Amino acid sequence: MIKQLPIFIKALFLIFLINSAFVLAYNSFSQSSMSGKNQINAEKLFKSNCSGCHLSGQNLIKPDKPLIGSQKLKSKESFSAFISAPPPPMPNFKNIVENPSHLDALYKYVTSLMGK
Ligand code: HEC
Repeated sequence: MIKQLPIFIKALFLIFLINSAFVLAYNSFSQSSMSGKNQINAEKLFKSNCSGCHLSGQNLIKPDKPLIGSQKLKSKESFSAFISAPPPPMPNFKNIVENPSHLDALYKYVTSLMGK
């Protein structure tokens, strides 16, 4: 029994190591899938609300007013002021403006793809 003890302790240590490897792997996995989700959210927001008229940053209705290079993207304030009361036929997006995390994500997404 006494001779077997070190093996038993080694086995415990091994189980502990394997277990913490799993915990570490799980943590980094859930973190990366969370940041992935944030990106998908902004992309989804854009695809479901804006792409219909602004596919790839263009303007399918008024081609001379694309998102790419738009002055309205210069600041988050000018962006949110514009999309909460845009000239028709663009609908307003008060629902997005009223949700700070959605506004933030969408603004970052649009400016990262379409520049300031
Ligand atoms: C129904 C079509 C339509 C949808 C949907 C739409 N837009 Fe627009 N958007 C327009 C039109 C048309 C204009 C040009 C308005 C004008 O006459 O100044 C415009 C202009 C803009 C401009 C200003 C471009 C410039 O420099 O003048 C921004 C920024 C913009 N849209 C962002 C968005 C965002 C972000 C969304 C989604 C949340 C969105 N739009 C959804 C039609 C649309």
